[in-house]
Amino acid sequence: MADPLDIQRLQAAFPQIEIEHHVQIDSTNSRALELARSEQIDRWRLILAEEQTAGRGRGANRWFSAAGAVTFSFLLPAEMTLPQPDWPRLALATGVAVCQTIEAFEPRALVGLKWPNDVFLNGRKVCGILIEGISQPRPHLVVGIGVNVNNSFATAPAELRQIATSIVDETGREHDRTEVLRAVIHNFDRCGRELASDPATLARHWQRYCLLTDCVVRVATNSRQIVGRCQGIDEAGALLLQTEAGVERCVAGTVVSWE
Ligand code: BTN
Repeated sequence: MADPLDIQRLQAAFPQIEIEHHVQIDSTNSRALELARSEQIDRWRLILAEEQTAGRGRGANRWFSAAGAVTFSFLLPAEMTLPQPDWPRLALATGVAVCQTIEAFEPRALVGLKWPNDVFLNGRKVCGILIEGISQPRPHLVVGIGVNVNNSFATAPAELRQIATSIVDETGREHDRTEVLRAVIHNFDRCGRELASDPATLARHWQRYCLLTDCVVRVATNSRQIVGRCQGIDEAGALLLQTEAGVERCVAGTVVSWE
């Protein structure tokens, strides 16, 4: 196992959060959803895993993370639950929190957001974010985050090395995973509050981090594909594409190519 997470240190830093730590679990998001279905959730829960056996990504994707990654889910109390149209903003706020965390540890790192849910470091994916919710018995939101910190992709298959990376791979330095997690929680909390109190400032951050701006981007939505030159992300979290027909706002979808 990689350097173990120091749960006592984490709990002392965030006494208001109930922390659940697993050496191995199928998926921290699945566990959080199970808790939301079966218990009254009146304060933040944090579900952490050293290893996931069935980590889930967006859509039908799986999420692989080796020892040394930081893998966790927030289960938010009902009063912090946002309606589904607001999830893109929450995903972007989470991405901003992760970008700011990586920059704090590695000030020269080139971090950015690939709309809507990915964080990139030096051109490859370093973090994935998965937001899920339930409406019964009470509405609850789960924000799952996987950050590649000390898990090197050096021996991973070439196809994976082309698209994924970790902080250690890019900088040659390992980091205390507990401190990385502490910073992500702190920044997530701050960005979450900013979503409500100062959305314009937060939107300026996701604009600044948007890696797709000025690129020709192809987005697959449920019904069609849209191609256009990206003009950034608006305050509502929609990707703006300048197409021949005018500016299209993509509120949901997957970026299939950008150049
Ligand atoms: C994606 O990039 O498609 C999203 C990946 C999200 C991975 C995280 S790891 C912690 C949490 N538990 C899961 O099963 N998935 C999320």
